This record gives sequence, structure tokens and C-alpha cells, in this order.
Amino acid sequence: MSKLVSLEGISKHYGVGENEVIALDKIDLSINQGEYVAGMGPSGSGKSTLLTILGAMNPPTTGKMIVDDIDVYGLSSEHQADFRREYLGFIFQQLQLLPYLTAIENVMLPLVVSDATDHEGKAGAVLERLGLAKKFDRLPSELSGGEQGRVAIARAVVNEPPILLADEPTGSLDTATGKEILALFSELHNEGQTIVMVTHNAESTRGVERLINIKDGQVVDDKQLKKT
Ligand SMILES: Nc1ncnc2c1ncn2[C@@H]1O[C@H](COP(=O)(O)OP(=O)(O)OP(=O)(O)O)[C@@H](O)[C@H]1O
Ligand SMILES: [Mg+2]
Repeated sequence: MSKLVSLEGISKHYGVGENEVIALDKIDLSINQGEYVAGMGPSGSGKSTLLTILGAMNPPTTGKMIVDDIDVYGLSSEHQADFRREYLGFIFQQLQLLPYLTAIENVMLPLVVSDATDHEGKAGAVLERLGLAKKFDRLPSELSGGEQGRVAIARAVVNEPPILLADEPTGSLDTATGKEILALFSELHNEGQTIVMVTHNAESTRGVERLINIKDGQVVDDKQLKKT
């Protein structure tokens, strides 16, 4: 497998003086093309910090992130924005659907700022694939939690990003809909999607092939799991 992401000596400190918090402490990590990875650790261990650094939206205090030979934090902020648009799809715990846009309009959002054509066709195709063919014109408030989760996934993958990042993607969902979302992740992974998820919940790691344990901003364990 070829290496897609490499974190080299990444630290992140927030605050100064006696308020300084070391959220990440000299992390070295590589992620291969097509891997399905979960980072797990207790609250405050640095998971979201790690994910936002991978998301090219949180400059590290020390270290480098290389993706496809690009030194991401060496780019100008404008080029970092291009990088995010080209390489990344995001799913956040609070799904962050725009409440005044319909399902299909939410999914079309990333296409609006890309070079893509046929926004409606592309967004519709992804929603259909995720079982929402009949719900294009619903507002988020007219969808169930699981359906909202699927819209958020559709929006994250509509641009076919090389890397899908998810922070507690099942955090706001009940167990059954959480499982549904995880099943979709496994499906995407089987189609070759690289996925990095962080969670404090062991159940959310169902189906991942690599589990990284994070404690106090450090990687304390990194293991391949058997396929089940
Ligand atoms: N913007 C910020 N400014 C100051 N401190 C921060 C900031 N973001 C995070 N921290 C601190 O950095 C540490 C790691 O936070 P982070 O959000 O990465 O943890 P987490 O593992 O995602 O936790 P949770 O499971 O609660 O989401 C915590 O001590 C947190 O208080
Ligand atoms: Mg977090």
C-alpha cells in the first residue's frame, strides 16, 4: 500500500504560560492509501486536535504533515483551502447540516466551490446511493437522525475526496442509526476510500482495520486488527 499521509513530529500546544496545554506531543504517524483507521482515547486526549490537524485547519506547533508529497502547513492559507477542497471530506459530531437548505442542497455545497459540473446530478446520485432517493427536498428537520447522518456522509464524499475524516460520527446518534452509519463507512472503505475517524467509543471502531490509542496527546498503541 502506498503512503498517503505522514505526520512527522507533530505537537500542538494551546495557550501560553501556566495556561499552556500540550494537546499533542510529538506524534509520528503514517496513513496508507485505502486504510480505515480509528483513533481512540478518553476525553481531552487530543483526538479532535489530531483530526483538525489532519484536516489542514489547525496549524501544529511543531512538525510537518506531508500528503502526496505536499507539505500542507507550508502552503499559503489560500493553497491550504484548495488542499482541503481537493483532498478532504469531513463529518463532524454535530453533523452541521445547514438547517435552511434541503438534503440535496446540503450535498451540493462542496460542489459549488469546486470545478465540478452537474451539481444536482452528482449530489442526487450520492444521495440515491445512500438510500435517500425520496428525500432530496426535505429539510434536515424533516429527516431522522440516521437520515441526517447519511446526508452528512453524502456531503463529505460527493467530491470524491482522497481522505474522509470523521470526528465522533456516531456521537449524536442512537445505537441503531450509529451502526447504520458505521456500515456505510465499511462500504466506502471496501470501495477504496481512505477513512480516519476519532472516537472515545469502542463500539464506533467496529469494522476498522487499524486502531490507534491516544493518551495525553501521545500515540500509546497502534495495531492492525483482523478482518472480521
Ligand atoms: N482551541 C483550544 N484552545 C485551548 N485548548 C484547547 C483547544 N482545543 C482543545 N484544547 C485542549 O486540548 C486538549 C485536547 O483536546 P481535544 O479536543 O483534542 O480532545 P478530545 O480527545 O477530542 O476530547 P473529547 O473526547 O472530549 O472530544 C484538551 O485539554 C483541551 O482542553
Ligand atoms: Mg473531540
